[in-house]
Amino acid sequence: MSKTSAAITAVGAYVPEYVLTNQILETMVDTNDEWITTRTGIKERRILKGEGKGTSFLAINAAKDLIKKRGIDPKDIELVIVATATPDMKAASTAAFTASEIGATNAFTFDMDAACSSFLFGMSVAASYIESGRYKNVLLIGADKMSSIINYKDRATCIIFGDGAGAVLFEPTQENLGLQDEYLRSDGTGREFLQATYGGSSYPITPEVLENGGHCAFQEGRTVFKNAVFNMADATVKILERNNLSKDDVNWLVAHQANKRIIDATANRIELEQEKVMMNIHKYGNTTSATLPLLLNDYESQLKKGDNLIFAAFGGGFNWGSIYLKWAYNS
Ligand SMILES: CC(C)(COP(=O)(O)OP(=O)(O)OC[C@H]1O[C@@H](n2cnc3c(N)ncnc32)[C@H](O)[C@@H]1OP(=O)(O)O)[C@@H](O)C(=O)NCCC(=O)NCCS
Repeated sequence: MSKTSAAITAVGAYVPEYVLTNQILETMVDTNDEWITTRTGIKERRILKGEGKGTSFLAINAAKDLIKKRGIDPKDIELVIVATATPDMKAASTAAFTASEIGATNAFTFDMDAACSSFLFGMSVAASYIESGRYKNVLLIGADKMSSIINYKDRATCIIFGDGAGAVLFEPTQENLGLQDEYLRSDGTGREFLQATYGGSSYPITPEVLENGGHCAFQEGRTVFKNAVFNMADATVKILERNNLSKDDVNWLVAHQANKRIIDATANRIELEQEKVMMNIHKYGNTTSATLPLLLNDYESQLKKGDNLIFAAFGGGFNWGSIYLKWAYNS
């Protein structure tokens, strides 16, 4: 009997309506469109407005988009994973609430957090459940309301992040499609350079912390940049070598959208042509767990069955890696 692989069989997405442009940011912090564009490639990002609307709002809408497009019965979904660094609340998972709201009443659910690598690592987890034969329909959602942990007085951080969500469905296939290989790594010594410190069990929130924005994300941009460039490129090279792929075998690079210069550096390292590099950072910024599925959604109509996709991500932790996946359908 041929091997069971885990294929992505549907994609959905949601971004909020409100557009935070570089020009608006110029009125909020000491920055300018030219600086942001040349340093990051970002022109605008989406922000979720509205009281009580959290990451689940984004996740639910992305999942509903997928369900409508694919025409599946939510009751057939057996597992819902929400990859996120900004869950609705500390306890009571975002995934459980999301699943109930979309009618996935036969599913078990959990959240997964590996910062900007949450979705990449989530692909590995979702695929493992399928490959083992235990489940046949796994919904993986990458969703983050980054604006909930951004200090809009910190110009080094607030220009980068945006809100959004994307979802993919994993199903088994006996064809040689779906997830082929992965190279995933973590290094906890990196956490001092990129973190949202307070609110966790080691660092309780106090009135002073709130006043100083200590509950928000902090990064030492230059160190993060260097590590991201090195590790995303290194993981991508490793996955190509391990699978005897040349750059000509690669149809698409699906790289985490943190900074256009980091994505370009990864593509350059494997000498990949620009037209094979998925890019939407200019319109969404860094949506953390949502960047990879938002790319798939934007490029879905150009993807063909059998295409070789190389995913790459880097994020807080540090966590990073690369996944090789063969696309499973024509849209
Ligand atoms: C944040 C980042 C865009 C900053 O770009 P950079 O080229 O490294 O810039 P630096 O931090 O070295 O700052 C250069 C100068 O610009 C200034 N600057 C920082 N943010 C600015 C802004 N928004 N507008 C204008 N100037 C800014 C700095 O104060 C510094 O000024 P100085 O030279 O007078 O001290 C870049 O480091 C980056 O993208 N890092 C990785 C971020 C990331 O990927 N995070 C998520 C990981 S998943």
